[in-house]
Amino acid sequence: MASWTARDIPDLTGTHAVVTGANSGLGVPTALELTRHGASVVMAARDPAKGRAAVREVRERVPGAEVEYGRLDLADLGSVREFADSVTRPLGILVNNAGIAVSARRRTTADGFELLFGVNHLGHFALTGLLLPRLLAHPGARVVTVSSDQHAAGRIDFDDLGMERSYAATRAYARSKLANLMFALELNRRAEAAGADLRSLATHPGFTATNIARVGPLTRPLAALLRLIAQPTEVGALTSLYAATSPDAHGGDFIGPGLRPLQPSPRAYDPEAARRLWQVSADLTGVSFPALTPH
Ligand SMILES: NC(=O)c1ccc[n+]([C@@H]2O[C@H](COP(=O)([O-])OP(=O)(O)OC[C@H]3O[C@@H](n4cnc5c(N)ncnc54)[C@H](OP(=O)(O)O)[C@@H]3O)[C@@H](O)[C@H]2O)c1
Repeated sequence: MASWTARDIPDLTGTHAVVTGANSGLGVPTALELTRHGASVVMAARDPAKGRAAVREVRERVPGAEVEYGRLDLADLGSVREFADSVTRPLGILVNNAGIAVSARRRTTADGFELLFGVNHLGHFALTGLLLPRLLAHPGARVVTVSSDQHAAGRIDFDDLGMERSYAATRAYARSKLANLMFALELNRRAEAAGADLRSLATHPGFTATNIARVGPLTRPLAALLRLIAQPTEVGALTSLYAATSPDAHGGDFIGPGLRPLQPSPRAYDPEAARRLWQVSADLTGVSFPALTPH
């Protein structure tokens, strides 16, 4: 599918979409192209000034765009709930794109979760669960969760989910991206088992020039160098756009650069671990997915 481009996105008139982390990096072209093809899009971002600036940019580039800003801080379950409550229409596309990759020291969310696990995984788990009734109200809805090839290095120690015993930024990121992929695959399994008209897919956009590697003044020259060799955001975003819209993208797919299917690592495929992660995530966030829970 290497020849698929944003021009191949079908007409999305009548489809409502939410993109998280839509003010920066991959989120901007993802929201922009969905809008350009007729979707009404909520660009979710934690910072109102940055979110509104991104909405203005899309409106300038897509005349007549149906696009609005929604405040969403994934590091705060209260904000996740408020945002989910604001989505009142049937939802055809949810792109769980927002992410944080670097925190040199261990930090926590407003609810006390290790920051990267809390934002990248638990925030999106809760958001998806809270939006599930809206997703099920749109036939053929899709949830796209942005993971990474880094998931392969991830390990989930259920006895130390807070990483209080041992913290390292790279391990925290790999773990969160493994959780993203396990969640996406488990969501699809549950949707299939429940006979729900919902597809869940995961993506790895490939090495893309975004703001994700911001880590402080010492590494700025390195970050600048990396940006030179990375692909542009418009190319990286094709993975999410393909997963969200192509008739050839199937539930449970893990789509990588060049829109090639990627093989999840054995740990990402472990259904027992995925069930355990799901249950722990539901317990921690207080969000369950009743429509997809086996009785
Ligand atoms: N770039 C790559 O090479 C690469 C490779 C593999 C996977 N990915 C994945 O791609 C996704 C998008 O990242 P990107 O590369 O486009 O990086 P980016 O430019 O840094 O964008 C990340 C977005 O996530 C938002 N975000 C961070 N913390 C948040 C929070 N607490 N609540 C809500 N939003 C929050 C950021 O908001 P602020 O602007 O306010 O910080 C920003 O909008 C991430 O999931 C990342 O793991 C990227």
